[in-house]
Amino acid sequence: MSTRGPRLVLLGKQGAGKGTQATRLADHYKVAHLSTGDLFRDAANFGHELGLEAKSFMDRGELVPDETVVGLVAEHLGIDDRAARGFVLDGFPRTRRQAEELRRILDGRPLDLAIDLDVPTEIVLRRIAGRRVFAQCGALYHVENPPKENWTCDACGGRVVQRDDDTEEAVMRRLELYEVETLPVIQFYRRAATLAHVDGSEETDDVFKQLVETVEAQFDPTKP
Ligand code: AP5
Ligand code: MG
Repeated sequence: MSTRGPRLVLLGKQGAGKGTQATRLADHYKVAHLSTGDLFRDAANFGHELGLEAKSFMDRGELVPDETVVGLVAEHLGIDDRAARGFVLDGFPRTRRQAEELRRILDGRPLDLAIDLDVPTEIVLRRIAGRRVFAQCGALYHVENPPKENWTCDACGGRVVQRDDDTEEAVMRRLELYEVETLPVIQFYRRAATLAHVDGSEETDDVFKQLVETVEAQFDPTKP
């Protein structure tokens, strides 16, 4: 009997821990981790036109236009048949239109679960203020959880820095857009009965454990 990995969407406010947990879930289930924010940051670091265009929106805390994001996700889900084999989407969909487009891209293959990582705003603000990253490999740290040596990435040795869009102004705008644009996505998945909530305010390991339990309760690897 052939099996596959889960098809998951992680939703949650900026700083809720989507990137942290999506990396672990993708490792655990041996599926692709697709973070639209990381893909744009990579493209900008390499000086690609798509990345530079996206960066002008990101640095202001605005959303990149739907057409651009949807095209990027469709391309990446097409690689190695990820749409069928399983994936963890982190940061997409973020508007109702993106959620509809994802359904179209999946072309009849159902999403197993959209999980809303629930974290109060005062906690996400603290997490974002202390976040440090190495953009090229996407590794995530925090001032309270730094890399082992002198702010260089444990995995790659690159310089770990603050993200360009982690300024107070951009963060407030991102949180505002979350309420306006992304809460309707939660509603969209609630209606489709594929929504689960996990408390993301606990310790990282406890949140991960809860996420895996939630996926296991819903996901049937033998269903195509
Ligand atoms: P994106 O990169 O997705 O940023 P975001 O949504 O603002 O979310 P974050 O990455 O800030 O938070 P996170 O939930 O991943 O938290 P993390 O794990 O890092 O998008 C950036 C921009 O790209 C957007 O603003 C937009 O311009 C554009 N974009 C991307 N996707 C788009 C789309 N679909 N449509 C249009 N535009 C798009 O954790 C945060 C910190 O907390 C870290 O330091 C971490 O170490 C720490 N932490 C995590 N979990 C815990 C825990 N349990 N306890 C303590 N600390 C923790
Ligand atoms: Mg992230």
